[in-house]
Amino acid sequence: MSSAEEVSPSASSHSLSPPSSPSTPPQVAHLIGKKEDIAKAGHVTKLVNGCRDVLVLFHQGRYHAMDMRCYHAGGSLLHGDIEEFNGQQCIVCPWHKYKITLAEGEGLYQAVDNPTVKPLRTHWRSKGVKQRIHKVTELNDNVYVTLNDSTEPIESDVYQTEKYRTSVVHFHNNR
Ligand code: FES
Repeated sequence: MSSAEEVSPSASSHSLSPPSSPSTPPQVAHLIGKKEDIAKAGHVTKLVNGCRDVLVLFHQGRYHAMDMRCYHAGGSLLHGDIEEFNGQQCIVCPWHKYKITLAEGEGLYQAVDNPTVKPLRTHWRSKGVKQRIHKVTELNDNVYVTLNDSTEPIESDVYQTEKYRTSVVHFHNNR
């Protein structure tokens, strides 16, 4: 199947929303690749629907999808490590080590109780959803992504423009 192939997610077996009501248009899921290939690679990126660079990860038996560039400054998350913080699986951006939860795209940070009291006592806190997470559907042997089309702005949206995509390609070609 080509990368442009689309499928109704209604036949999916995983991560599905309830069926759309007749008054809403059906969501469209985009083929990312074979489950086995993605699981073996651990991660893959794809330009979805000609407009969005998406990172698909396989971690601890589950597939996850999110915007490929970090909400902080646009760093590629492709080679980010996956680690657990505060009981949540997170991708760690290679650029400045920001932590982003795989489940919700929340930015996590460590807050200090009182900076004048030593030793410092820290707690993990959430900055809220910063990275746009997309829905993954497993169907037969394939993985599909349905873009999260919420109109609510999310910070990672900033790095999904053609201008930024081109500048990153230029940067990598000149390294
Ligand atoms: S660009 Fe990701 S942490 Fe700065």
